[in-house]
Amino acid sequence: MPRTPERKQLHLNAFLMSTGHHEASWRLPESPAEANSDIEHYKNLARIAERGRLDSLFLADSPVLMGDPGRRPAAKLEPTVLLTALAGATRHIGLIATASTSYNEPYNLARRFASLDHVSGGRAGWNIVTTAGADAARNFGLDDTPLHRDRYRRAGEFVEVSTKLWDSWADDAVIADKERGVHALAERVRQIGHRGEFFRVDGPLNVQRPPQGYPLLVQAGSSEDGKDFAARYAEAVFTAQQTLEEGIAFYKDVKERATALGRNPDGIKILPGIVPVIGETEAEALALDAELENLIVPEYAKLQLAKRLKIAPEDLDLDAELPDDIPTEDDIEGAKSRYTLIVELARREKLTVRQLIGR
Ligand SMILES: Cc1cc2nc3c(=O)[nH]c(=O)nc-3n(C[C@H](O)[C@H](O)[C@H](O)COP(=O)(O)O)c2cc1C
Repeated sequence: MPRTPERKQLHLNAFLMSTGHHEASWRLPESPAEANSDIEHYKNLARIAERGRLDSLFLADSPVLMGDPGRRPAAKLEPTVLLTALAGATRHIGLIATASTSYNEPYNLARRFASLDHVSGGRAGWNIVTTAGADAARNFGLDDTPLHRDRYRRAGEFVEVSTKLWDSWADDAVIADKERGVHALAERVRQIGHRGEFFRVDGPLNVQRPPQGYPLLVQAGSSEDGKDFAARYAEAVFTAQQTLEEGIAFYKDVKERATALGRNPDGIKILPGIVPVIGETEAEALALDAELENLIVPEYAKLQLAKRLKIAPEDLDLDAELPDDIPTEDDIEGAKSRYTLIVELARREKLTVRQLIGR
């Protein structure tokens, strides 16, 4: 179909996670139990997504072993490494890797994404996250997560430094003139001399200008600081609003913030997430959904929910609704918006803890 300005196009991104997002999906008889570290499994998924003409693949990440490895496949391959392999197995599809601004240095990461962009022929994307959770902090010499606001301040400077590094090679810096013996024009490869609050970086980058200029910049925070960050830097925003009204409000909010910053709001795509359960018929899909629910081990999932809500597991009764007396978003220094989303879902639909875990 020809692409005309009047014709709006839906962007579709596959958020890959070994055998799927459902916490019991690995237990289905047909699931490859070692999928989380099996490159052939991921290549197969990537090729299916490409054949289906999806825009991109996305890999989430956090520099910590998330969740209970006894319960589900918790270990993961490093996303930029995995996507480098998938670049070789595909031709067109975009490749978006998550990387933390709290637990990396801009020089290393800018280099890694520039490399992925070269290797994939201009298909790299970076999901910029600030990483919630004390468990991750304790892998990097800290006792606790840096404050939410401070993580976003660092993230802003991190992206500024990264873009300066990608810009440190002008588009036309490399001339590869064999005759004169000039590979790159020295005046077009510049130091950046960055001196900021969090980083001191001289540059230039040791990878030349990535084919896209910058990788696609993606973001997923929904808190106030998260939305400001998205409005300033993101070209695509992952989100997970649970009702149409909230979705419309979020879309409008992010677009208005971008407009206020002088950006063209069409330059930011909002990508709400869904978890489809698919069958040949509706009855088949419903049967699969029921099979998955039956495979959940609720005692494990209850611990995970309690941790996320910052309450004691003993205070959660599987067959009762959430207790009234739980923290508010202001008390959460981790993933603020995800906390509120879960609590609002439970209250709105009067879900028991067991039903909430299933959802
Ligand atoms: C679809 C989606 C994917 C996400 N992937 C990651 C991820 O891979 N790693 C991560 O640390 N956070 C991830 N997040 C969480 C956000 O990046 C963000 O850290 C979280 O929403 C907390 O930010 P906030 O307090 O600004 O809302 C994801 C969020 C969504 C909606």
